[in-house]
Amino acid sequence: MIRFDQVSKRYEGGHEALSQLSFQVAPGEMAFVTGHSGAGKSTLLKLLGLIERPSHGSISLDGQSLAKIGRGGIPKLRRRIGMVFQDHRLLMDRTVFANVELPLVIGGVAPAERGRRVRAALEKVGLLAYERQLPATLSTGEQQRVGIARAIVAKPTLLIADEPTGNLDPQLAVEIMGLFAEFQQVGTTVLVASHDLPLIKRMRKRVVVLDHGRLVADIAAEEVL
Ligand SMILES: Nc1ncnc2c1ncn2[C@@H]1O[C@H](COP(=O)(O)OP(=O)(O)O)[C@@H](O)[C@H]1O
Ligand SMILES: [Mg+2]
Repeated sequence: MIRFDQVSKRYEGGHEALSQLSFQVAPGEMAFVTGHSGAGKSTLLKLLGLIERPSHGSISLDGQSLAKIGRGGIPKLRRRIGMVFQDHRLLMDRTVFANVELPLVIGGVAPAERGRRVRAALEKVGLLAYERQLPATLSTGEQQRVGIARAIVAKPTLLIADEPTGNLDPQLAVEIMGLFAEFQQVGTTVLVASHDLPLIKRMRKRVVVLDHGRLVADIAAEEVL
């Protein structure tokens, strides 16, 4: 599903954020990317979402080289990838429904179909009753779940999340990670960046460890203690 081949990323005027990174993620797999602050976790996810481009090396998704996708092809790629961020990035002046509907509006999905899909996504994250509310009236954990509903509403084959539990208390963090595991169970490939080691260990999924932009460990789910 995901293939990084000798990928390096140097930001303009900066040092190497990722160095010769190679790894693969199989379809339907769930993996964590961890490492210290500044290790390159967010950079890795940004390269997948074409928010950034690599300086060297190649990345492919479902056998398609990302290098061949130009500006015009980015919206189409983003429909295949659901993205969740630490700060939920919701539009605070729009209802929960409208926030989750947005990717479908952009994707040109017909209104009747949009309503059906938005409700299905809200139901999956347990927020069906909140569709008419504004995000500000929801708790932090609920807001994050709206962000997740928005990420999955277009039925992406890949879900990527950058520190999705960074702003949540431990109990809520466990619930949110459980949601990601549920999406994996229905066939979505899931890649989550997190520095919360106790939580990662609890999930018993594959763990890819970065240190100063290099892959220093790749621990299989069965080997996570
Ligand atoms: N837009 C940018 N411009 C310059 N340097 C950046 C930029 N984004 C990240 N970096 C640097 O790249 C390195 C990796 O950052 P990042 O991928 O955000 O790490 P992490 O998510 O693991 O904390 C850090 O040294 C960071 O300062
Ligand atoms: Mg980060």
